[in-house]
Amino acid sequence: TEYQKGVKQLYEKGIKKLPRKYILPSHERPNDFATKNGGIKQNIQLPVIDFAELQGPNRAQVLKSLANACENYGFFQVVNHNIGDGVISDMIDVGTRFFGLPFEERSKYMSANMKAPVRYGTSFNQNKDNVFCWRDFLKLMCQPLPDVLPHWPSSPQDFRKSAATYAKDTKHLFVMLMEAILESLSPAPETAAFPTADGEVVDEMEKELMEGGSQLMVVNCYPPCPEPDLTLGMPPHSDYGFLTLLLQDDVAGLQIQHNDKWVTVDPIPNAFVVNVGDHLEIFSNGRYKSVLHRVLTNQSRNRISVASLHSLPFEYTVRPWPKLISEQNPQRYRDTDFATFLQYISSCEPKRKNFLESRK
Ligand code: SIN
Ligand code: FE2
Repeated sequence: TEYQKGVKQLYEKGIKKLPRKYILPSHERPNDFATKNGGIKQNIQLPVIDFAELQGPNRAQVLKSLANACENYGFFQVVNHNIGDGVISDMIDVGTRFFGLPFEERSKYMSANMKAPVRYGTSFNQNKDNVFCWRDFLKLMCQPLPDVLPHWPSSPQDFRKSAATYAKDTKHLFVMLMEAILESLSPAPETAAFPTADGEVVDEMEKELMEGGSQLMVVNCYPPCPEPDLTLGMPPHSDYGFLTLLLQDDVAGLQIQHNDKWVTVDPIPNAFVVNVGDHLEIFSNGRYKSVLHRVLTNQSRNRISVASLHSLPFEYTVRPWPKLISEQNPQRYRDTDFATFLQYISSCEPKRKNFLESRK
């Protein structure tokens, strides 16, 4: 149907009313409080992690803030990271220009194959969603980069170059953040970043994260929406991986669930919004929380975001970190292989993380 072509083309047609296909049942719409105040009201200042400080003499202090953020918010923002402003603005720029291409050009990358190195699409899961959400996206597999790069869009001209640089830099930042997170979780934080006391899990982890971990980049485009109170840019969901590093432009829209309320994350220029995914919740045996989030639309401004999702290689077992498990802290999640895990959560998306709720 025409809705499979996405929301950009609906916007370009100049529609004044939201088509029925996008209208959520009333209990799933953005709540009254939010809508009465223009959709973007209850804002939240997420904990801010100063990445430069994390590398310095105050590391222990920053690790505490990091642990606190992962326990109580499931989200934090990272500033003073070492990704250049130019790399970030180039990524937003090529992403914006990609969505500015004629539909025929963008649609070359549509694919029903979930494993395709590039996939252009719309809504959350356009093959399953009854009600569509107000979002078009481009998904890029990032690993191994030399193999996938030739499949990435060749237009706009510098897309591959800018997106590849961005992918490499975010991967590096992810690895550094993950080291800090493992250190913050470790029961003996005064020892090394990767304690080797009980062995191979950590070493294996480190190696897998550096080399074999999977990275998926999603460029999201949310055009202005004629009736933002009736729909969402993305429905409530949690992310499956370890960490997601999200870049949002200056248009607010991301909301997270915090103390049972939906609150809007204030964009900080050039910062990354980082969130705990399902794997990390499991890996931490429930100490760090994978939190539901969603996206609001608005009537006046186009919004672009770039999410970089980092997770384990497919063959890896998803399970709590053995060194955290003791008589006082029994294992709260069963071991699962990643493929089964993905299958399971995709069968219950977008509604929930039933998997996490069906603990041991
Ligand atoms: C996401 O949840 O992956 C995207 C969030 C956003 O666009 O802000
Ligand atoms: Fe997400």
